[in-house]
Parts: sequence; structure tokens; C-alpha cells
Amino acid sequence: MIPKHIIDEIMATARIEEVIGDFVALKKSGADMKALSPFSQEKTPSFYVSPNKQIFKDFSSGKGGNVVTFLMEHEQISYPEALRFLAKRYNITIPDEKEITPEEIQQANEKESLFIVLNYALEFYRDQLENTEDGKAIGKSYFLERGFREETIEKFGLGFAPQKWDAFGSAALAIGYKDEYLQLAGLSKVNEQGKRYDMFRNRVIFPIHNLSGKVVAFAGRQLSKEDKGPKYLNSPETPVYHKSDILYGMYFAKNMIRMKDKCFLVEGYTDVITLNQAGIENVVASSGTSLTDGQIRQVSRFTPNITVLYDGDPAGLKASQRGIDLILAQGMNVRLVIFPDGEDPDSYCKRVGGQEFGTYIEEHEQDFILFKSQLLFGETGKDPLRKADAVKSIVASIALIPDPVKRTIFAQECAKIMEVPEQVIASELGKARRKELDDSSRKALEAVEIAQQMVPEEEITTHLTETEKQELQVMKLLIRHAADMYDDERTVAQFVLDEIHEGLAFTNPLCANLLNEVRTAVAEGIVVDASFFVNHEESSVNSFAADALHDKYRASDRWAEIHEIPLVHEEENYRLDLHSAILHYKIRKVEMAIEANQKELKEMPADAEEETVTVLMEKQLHLITLRRSLSELIGVTVIK
Ligand code: UTP
Ligand code: MN
Repeated sequence: MIPKHIIDEIMATARIEEVIGDFVALKKSGADMKALSPFSQEKTPSFYVSPNKQIFKDFSSGKGGNVVTFLMEHEQISYPEALRFLAKRYNITIPDEKEITPEEIQQANEKESLFIVLNYALEFYRDQLENTEDGKAIGKSYFLERGFREETIEKFGLGFAPQKWDAFGSAALAIGYKDEYLQLAGLSKVNEQGKRYDMFRNRVIFPIHNLSGKVVAFAGRQLSKEDKGPKYLNSPETPVYHKSDILYGMYFAKNMIRMKDKCFLVEGYTDVITLNQAGIENVVASSGTSLTDGQIRQVSRFTPNITVLYDGDPAGLKASQRGIDLILAQGMNVRLVIFPDGEDPDSYCKRVGGQEFGTYIEEHEQDFILFKSQLLFGETGKDPLRKADAVKSIVASIALIPDPVKRTIFAQECAKIMEVPEQVIASELGKARRKELDDSSRKALEAVEIAQQMVPEEEITTHLTETEKQELQVMKLLIRHAADMYDDERTVAQFVLDEIHEGLAFTNPLCANLLNEVRTAVAEGIVVDASFFVNHEESSVNSFAADALHDKYRASDRWAEIHEIPLVHEEENYRLDLHSAILHYKIRKVEMAIEANQKELKEMPADAEEETVTVLMEKQLHLITLRRSLSELIGVTVIK
């Protein structure tokens, strides 16, 4: 945690116009400064920065806030990451060493060392490509033949690994890199005879960057079909390369994805590069793995819209279904473009050029659910049994969509396409939804329901202290609204973390542990929302979460939910509720401190030193004043 006084110092030092000026070309406009919006594509500037008020406002996207909000939005980083960024920019030291254990320091050093070794490897492979005979004759000519231009080769850091056993390893060791790190990075290996050899040999090299542009891994492609080994060889998992969280090309794509509010998802490294070269930059590929939840979450930080670009064969489509279901389940909008048989985005783009490729996408982009309906409807013909199967399969996909309004709309569309009465689809959907809940939250919901049937509500809670009950109340509100905004700058999660700091730590173990996990997650930039709690591996947590969410909906609302009726949301009072729950908790804490202090005063021996007594008395007065001001905030009258 960054200490409060340091945060204050950072906020007092940072100048919004300087920080934003690092990213955007600002022009003076009266007392303010303006620029073209970095959050959307526009022709006339509607992005304003006010040096007097230290805020920014973007009229094209509606975003606005202070310098920290800007960094969080623009760089897609968390609150503490933004503060650290500013601290670095303004040379403010964050003294949190005492919280870092020696192990963490070692891990941090290890990661740093890996980045350095990986960067050396990048330069080595590039140098081989540009400056050696084989590199030029084999590697460079391969890339040029594939139509990659010089500047593209440079942008993506493409390289060449020569056909020698230990070219990279011996070069790296000669400069002084440690063997240990060469192996840990997956660049060198040692065989049973103790002989060291390079992982990548006689291959062209594609570096893989993380979100902040550091090289974390490599893929090496074979140069001819006759070569031994797989077509692409990928680096193994390492402390800096978690395959399930990295999308190839994301570093180059993120700004365009945000601007276009859309992300193209392709299958291969070369698809990403060719499209980029043709001016289509909002494109990523899942590298070396099939698509994962973590990768989809990365995209969702920049846009809710994914368009999947796949080659046309039916096998590919079947294989992609699982990935598409994952995307739907994350609440994203999935569209699909199919290419003519035998073509992938790379070959098609190369054949027709960027412009025509763009037009093709516009004309052939289809909503995935509607596409699937048409595809399956086409297959069923007049056979009623096959039609029933098709309906089930489509409904299974629709059921994954978290938003009830969207689900209803798709159900209606799908009914039209399949020529089935809407009620049939709606009832299937109801069934599928209940089944869907099976896997994650329904078990938890049931557990809560059973527990409630067995033990009356009061009995569950009577063994809890008053304080614990208040803690649970705060946690419930957190679970229900974690990702909602509390104020202009903070989500509810962030607000609760700010309020419940160390001095006020929860006493109930469930609450205390859970809040710590939330703190870690938020610090790591993970979005904490209801699913964070509901999908928690510990059953005491997920059942508590289900419980909290359960009474979020009144009975009638749940009825509407199950029956797929879109709800008009009532005015949310969660801010007030949360504010009041936290104040009550604080008052309770102060009261406990008052009691403890009083007890100490009473038990004070008669010959106690005057000074000791005075300290306790002063503390008592201070606590009572604190209680009064807290109570005034909440409008509670305290007698005494
Ligand atoms: P493809 O075989 O479609 O290759 O694999 P590609 O990207 O079109 O490559 P080119 O155009 O023939 O050079 C798609 C992706 O699957 C992964 C890679 O990420 C590749 O880009 N893959 C494929 C592997 O990881 N290993 C393999 O052996 C093959
Ligand atoms: Mn290809």
C-alpha cells in the first residue's frame, strides 16, 4: 500500500498538463488546453485539460477526471499503478520496502534479469537477420517473400536464429549473461550429457511482447516443411510469460482497439503482422494456446466488441466454438467474418490489399448468434428432430450472455430465423439458464437455500459479534457493487479499500481475508466484480457471495430474470447504503476503543503515574470527539 502522505505528495506535485502532454499534443485555448481526443477518432478537438482545476474532460467519449483517472483510462492501469507512474515521473520515492519480503525482492530481481536476457535475445536474433550471410539469405528473404516490408520487420522485431547448436547461448555467455537465466527464459537447454544448446535453431523469430511492450517470449517458425519439429516452436511458460494472459500483438493494437472500439481476433502470428502492415492495427492473436478467459479479459479492458476472423473451413468453425462461448460468457459482443475456402486473413489480405480487405470485413461481418442460427437452420432442412437439436445448441450459446436484455433480443431474432415460436425459445432459454447456473453460482445458491431452511436466519447470525455483523454488511454491499462507480474516480471496491485501511481492519476472518484478496487483485489491475466472489474457489466465500447477491433481487425481480423479462432498473441507493454501513462500522470501532480505554482507566492502580493517567484521559476525550463527529455525519444522536 502506498502511504497516504505519499499519495498526497504525488497529487500535489503532478501537473495534469505535463503528464497528459506526454501523450497528447496540447494546444493553448484560453485558460485551458485542448487536443484531439485520445479516446476516440475525431477531426475537431473536443478534449480539454484545465491546468487551473487540474482536471481533463473529453467531450467525445464523456470521460473526465484528474491526472490519475487519465492515466488509468489511457494506459489501462490500476490506481496504484497510476500513482507509481506519477511517482516515477516526478522522482518521488515510495517507501514501502518494509512490506516487501526478501522472497519478493528475489522474485522481482529474477523477473528483471529475465527481461534483460530476453531483450538481449531480441537484439541477437535481429542482428543475425540483418547482418549475417545466412540471416540475410535465408531469414530476411523469407520475410520479404511473404510480403513483409522492412519497417514491418523492424516494428515487430522479427529475427533469425542460425542453424548452429549454440550460437545464441555462447554469445550470451561470452557477454556475461548467466546460464541460469538463459535456461529460465527458455532460450537455452542442457541435454543429458550436459551439453548446452539453443532452443531456437534455423528458424525465423517472432518476439512476443507484453502489454507494456517488453519482450517476454519468442516463437520460431520453421523455414521449410521438411524441417524437423513443429511448424512454430513457442517459448515455455516462465515467470514473465504466462501464456494464458498474453495476446500476440496486443501491445501494438491496444490504442487502435480503444479508438475503433473493436478488436479483431485472428489465429496466427502472420495474420496479425500482415493486417497491421495493411493499416488494420486493432488485431490480436491468441499465441501458442487456445483462447483463454484471461486473454478475453485483456481485450475487455479496451473494448466490449470482438470480431473473430477465421478461415472458412467447418472444422475451424467447430474448434472456434469453445473460444466464442468463452467470449459470450464474458458479456462481450461477438461478431464473425468467414473467409473464402482455403484462405486465412493473412493470405486474403495479401491477395486483395488492405482497402478491399476492410470492405470485405464490413460486408461479411455477422453477429455470431445470428450466424449460428442461419448456419444450423440451413443444415436442418425440414427434419423436426434436427431442428430441435439446432434450437438447443443456439439457445445454449444465447444462455451464456450475462445481460438479460441482450438475451431477450437474441432469443427473438433466433426465433424468427429458425421459424420457431418465441415462447419455445424463451422456455428453452429458461431451462438452459438454470442449467448454466448449475456450474458456478447455482450450487452456491442452493447451499445457501438449504442452510437457510435448516437454520433460521437469526441463528446463523447470533454467534456473530455486532462488529462482525457490520463487517458482513459492508462486504455484502461490496460484493453486489464492486465494479460500480462510487464517485468520479473510484469504483466501490476502491472506495471500500480506501476506507477500511489497516487501523480499521475487519475482525471476522472471512471478511478480513476476502478484503485482502480484493486489495491484491485491485493492485494487480484485476477487475473485481460479482463473479470474482461468486466464482471464488472457497465454498464459504462463494456461498456468502451468492447469499449477498441473492437478496439483491427481490422475489419479483428474480421472477422476471428467470422469465427473461428485461427490467427497468430502480434508482440504485448503494452509495448511500455503503456510506452509512461504513460509518456505522467506524462508530462501532470507536465505541469499542472507548470501552477498552475506559476499562484500562478503571483498572489503573491508585499509585499510577499521573502522566499515564493523563494520556489515557486525553485519548478518551479524543475518541469521544471522534465518535461525535462520525455520528453527526450519519445523523445518529448519541446519548451520553
Ligand atoms: P497456422 O498453422 O494457421 O499458421 O497456425 P499461420 O499463422 O497461418 O502461419 P503461416 O502463415 O503458415 O506462417 C496458427 C497459429 O497456431 C499456432 C501459432 O500461434 C500460429 O500462428 N501454432 C501453429 C503453434 O503454436 N505451433 C504450431 O506448430 C502451429
Ligand atoms: Mn497463414
